[in-house]
Amino acid sequence: MSSIGRVNIQRLDVRLDEARARTDQLRAQLHEHNHRYYVLDDPTVSDAEYDLLFRELQALEAAHPELLTADSPTQRVGGAAVKAFAEVRHRLPMQSLNNAFSEQELRDFDRRVREGLGLPASGDLPSAEVEYVAEPKLDGLAVSLIYEQGLLVRGATRGDGTTGEDITENLRTIRRIPLRLRGEPPPLLEVRGEVYYPLADFRRLNAEMEAKGQKTFVNPRNAAAGALRQLDPKITAGRPLAFYAYALGVSEGLTLPRQHWQVLQQFQAFGLPVSDLIERVAGAPGCWQYYLAMQARRASLPFDIDGVVYKLNDLAGREELGSVSRAPRWAVAHKFPAEEAETVLLDVEFQIGRTGAVTPVARLKPVFVGGATVSNATLHNLDEVARKDVRIGDAVIVRRAGDVIPEVARSLPEKRPADARVVVLPAQCPVCGSPVAREEGEAVARCTGGLTCRAQLHAGLLHFVGRRAMDMEGYGEKLITQLIERKLVSSPVDLFKLDAAALAGLERMAEKSAQNVVDAATKAKATTLPRFLFALGIRDVGESTAEALARHFVSLKALIEAAQSDAPTAEAEKKKDRFPLLQAVPDVGPEVAAQLARWFTDPHHLDLLAELRAVGIEWSEQAAVVIEGPLSGKTFVITGTLPESRDAVGARIEAAGGKLTGSVSAKTDFLVAGEAAGSKLAKAEKLGVAVLGWDALLQLLEQGPQL
Ligand code: IVH
Repeated sequence: MSSIGRVNIQRLDVRLDEARARTDQLRAQLHEHNHRYYVLDDPTVSDAEYDLLFRELQALEAAHPELLTADSPTQRVGGAAVKAFAEVRHRLPMQSLNNAFSEQELRDFDRRVREGLGLPASGDLPSAEVEYVAEPKLDGLAVSLIYEQGLLVRGATRGDGTTGEDITENLRTIRRIPLRLRGEPPPLLEVRGEVYYPLADFRRLNAEMEAKGQKTFVNPRNAAAGALRQLDPKITAGRPLAFYAYALGVSEGLTLPRQHWQVLQQFQAFGLPVSDLIERVAGAPGCWQYYLAMQARRASLPFDIDGVVYKLNDLAGREELGSVSRAPRWAVAHKFPAEEAETVLLDVEFQIGRTGAVTPVARLKPVFVGGATVSNATLHNLDEVARKDVRIGDAVIVRRAGDVIPEVARSLPEKRPADARVVVLPAQCPVCGSPVAREEGEAVARCTGGLTCRAQLHAGLLHFVGRRAMDMEGYGEKLITQLIERKLVSSPVDLFKLDAAALAGLERMAEKSAQNVVDAATKAKATTLPRFLFALGIRDVGESTAEALARHFVSLKALIEAAQSDAPTAEAEKKKDRFPLLQAVPDVGPEVAAQLARWFTDPHHLDLLAELRAVGIEWSEQAAVVIEGPLSGKTFVITGTLPESRDAVGARIEAAGGKLTGSVSAKTDFLVAGEAAGSKLAKAEKLGVAVLGWDALLQLLEQGPQL
């Protein structure tokens, strides 16, 4: 008996070995065919032949589940549906792009790049032009793909640029995204690119939705977003999304190329799809030619583009230029002109914003423009309305560019009906009845009701709970409206006093969701100073200003003291440097300083802060870790290409007690200059700042400055 058993096992082993060899072979063949079909657009087998191989692999995997691998071509829809997407923190932020709308703005961009790199102004010599890589600006969604040892292990949305959502299973269904990279990929590679909905497929999808009596998608971008947001990857798999790679994120063990162009070539070698519309161009003239060519081809492309992107090709130059706020200085999106359409202005209503700003909003006869049906558009402010001579009842031109809010561009007075009415600013806030005031020299009129105005309260609370502010999940537009209407909340403080019982009485609020909402508020109490400052909604204090303030003052107390001591006296009003303590913060100018001084001297605001503290809001107040070391008290700037990444070099300096800043000034002690250092080096030399090469830096790190 035992001998029979042994024979069987042996036979099974043989069969398993054969099966393993065959599955490996089939997978390699299918990967190759996929690559040829989806990436190179150059298949060498018919669909029927492909299907035959695919089904053979499926059958083998079904018979030998132990042979299944995550990167098998059969595993594009393996994942189960999820209840919610997990959060993913991007190791490097996913930035956005600044826009240019004209040839002049393109030239301005090129000029800033040249200045930043310390190059002379653009001449007529083509050889002296800066080289850019020009790419189509795909109108889809940015995603990040993480490959470890060549295997796709995670895919995420851009989210707010810092934190996105884990949509790995959905991205695995996109055939153009390789599950395994070809060639010799490094241990870690993050690829960034755009997921989009091809136009022909989009039209088919909408026709199907319509036939089924379901809501159609406004444009391919929304269709792509809808498909990626599915909690069940099987639904995503039924939507033929596409993908193009266009940027490198983090990597380990990759020999970093010197140029973006080479990065794109590497991507192709790894089997990633890169658009063949991408070109290298010389200077602003080359960019402009590319723009015109793309504009001409736009209508015949199989996907939507809303402009083109120019990126500095030289990667060391990019480091040199750095970023402002959320966008790099080394790239710009040149948008196609907005689309326009004619319609009728039915009425003008006034919306009250977070800071009380009264914005005239046009109610329009619905019109399809720029890929969406528009029935509301902004009129900005009353000066604009007067300048454009827009009256209620007028035929007007509506303009919409990409995802920008549609606006009324102008009226057509020649078509004006006799009963057209002039738009007048209401004397009282349409929401709370408080007087509407307009400060001298300001275009914007404001409701003076503050948080007693429901509209300001609503907008202020929405801002407060927002993802980038206190990040309180579950507090949407509708919940906040109900809370205000039922007088459950009249200040941000009240959000932390709600209990599940009070919430359970609201519409669409089951016991469990009521508890979730309360839990979200509890969780949000532990926050950071920058988030808290941003959440307060102080006029002109955006996220990056909030961060700069927190870094500079470290504690809220110190900020309040500075703001109060800076608060203007008649004497100080006359001085140029009116807010010396506040303006010492990088990026805080006189206007922002004035807002801060005003905000932190208002007793209502100080009460609000005290109450928020009293309900338990906390943040850690720690200086950006003061380390004592050989470089304590010394300020460093890093530039050029060094043997280690800039982050790594910065970390070494900070670990030795040194401080890093972004730009060279008289206060800089050392400039660490690598290869291809540009304008920063020139400036350091001009100011007499000590310049260190790599070896000199290493020595300094060992020994500290020799005084
Ligand atoms: S590069 C820091 N290249 O545009 C640069 N973006 O406004 C990061 N986009 O979020 C982006 N086509 O969704 C880049 N060829 C392209 C692009 C592109 C479309 C989108 C992307 C990004 C947004 C920035």
